[in-house]
Amino acid sequence: MSNMPSVSNNLNDFDNTLKNIVRAVNEKLEGIAAVPDAPESAVYEAMRYSLLAGGKRLRPVLTVAAAAMLGGDTDDALTAGCALECVHTYSLIHDDLPCMDNDDLRRGKPTCHKVFPENIALLAGDGLLNRAFEILSDMSEFKSISEKTALRLIGLLSAASGANGMIGGQVIDLMSENKPGVPEDLLLRMHKKKTGAMIEAAALMGAAVSGVSAGSAEYSAVGRFARNLGLAFQIQDDILDVTGNEAVLGKPIGSDEQEGKTTFVTLLGIDGAEKRQNEYTRAAVGALDIFGEKAAFLKELARRLVLRDN
Ligand code: IPE
Ligand code: IPE
Ligand code: MG
Ligand code: MG
Ligand code: MG
Repeated sequence: MSNMPSVSNNLNDFDNTLKNIVRAVNEKLEGIAAVPDAPESAVYEAMRYSLLAGGKRLRPVLTVAAAAMLGGDTDDALTAGCALECVHTYSLIHDDLPCMDNDDLRRGKPTCHKVFPENIALLAGDGLLNRAFEILSDMSEFKSISEKTALRLIGLLSAASGANGMIGGQVIDLMSENKPGVPEDLLLRMHKKKTGAMIEAAALMGAAVSGVSAGSAEYSAVGRFARNLGLAFQIQDDILDVTGNEAVLGKPIGSDEQEGKTTFVTLLGIDGAEKRQNEYTRAAVGALDIFGEKAAFLKELARRLVLRDN
């Protein structure tokens, strides 16, 4: 059974296409978030709460759309993207903890540790991390890809989420709290790792599902697209923390200032941050030129992300 509707590159269909991919992602996550009747069900309840709380689903959308562009199996891309979304959601649960950003609102709802005891929220994050790799290493979850490709997916996701990727970026973020004069190159390194690495992995997993070899021009182009998109995306996140509307954003405004964070806004001001963001978006879109018309959906997605208000 195919869960994935086709991905149209006709921009008149953009909104519908995006909506359909997000719907397929949410349906798949619903199955992943099942709660067993067991003495330890509290941790599953907390995992389910955060996984299904909402969220834009950008990363699985990237995985599916990259696979569609490259002629890969979009159902397998959906599975891979949803595994990555589990890791992303774990990173959000932990990011919100009192020992991290200490936030009370996420995806328009109270944060995991506000609804469940803090120890259960911590373990729910851990549970989602492991769930992702349980999915990727189970060949019955996939229709077409080989075991070798599944191993590539595991390699991409583990590297992007580990100390050399997202976790490393979170460490720089914490180390930089309440430190004036954080240099721009360190801020860039932080953004590349804490946000860029997972966005890059999302797109590259779509390429891996499609059998694109790691040394090819296509693979490099997808990587360059996603790295630039990741930077533009985190800069918009920094901007929205200042200019956003809490009800629309679904997370607190002013959290960065309260926690003494260095962001692109504190470094360059809103105008400077916007300018930089537009440069990264242009670079992201340009990286996809080699794919011609087949890249229309992904290019439009990149253009819209800088305009988002949540
Ligand atoms: C939030 O990511 C954390 C960042 C890396 C900026 P998203 O803005 O993608 O959050 P959701 O998944 O839509 O909730
Ligand atoms: C978080 O960056 C990046 C993650 C790895 C979760 P932020 O701390 O800026 O993300 P938000 O604004 O809380 O979503
Ligand atoms: Mg943070
Ligand atoms: Mg945060
Ligand atoms: Mg933020």
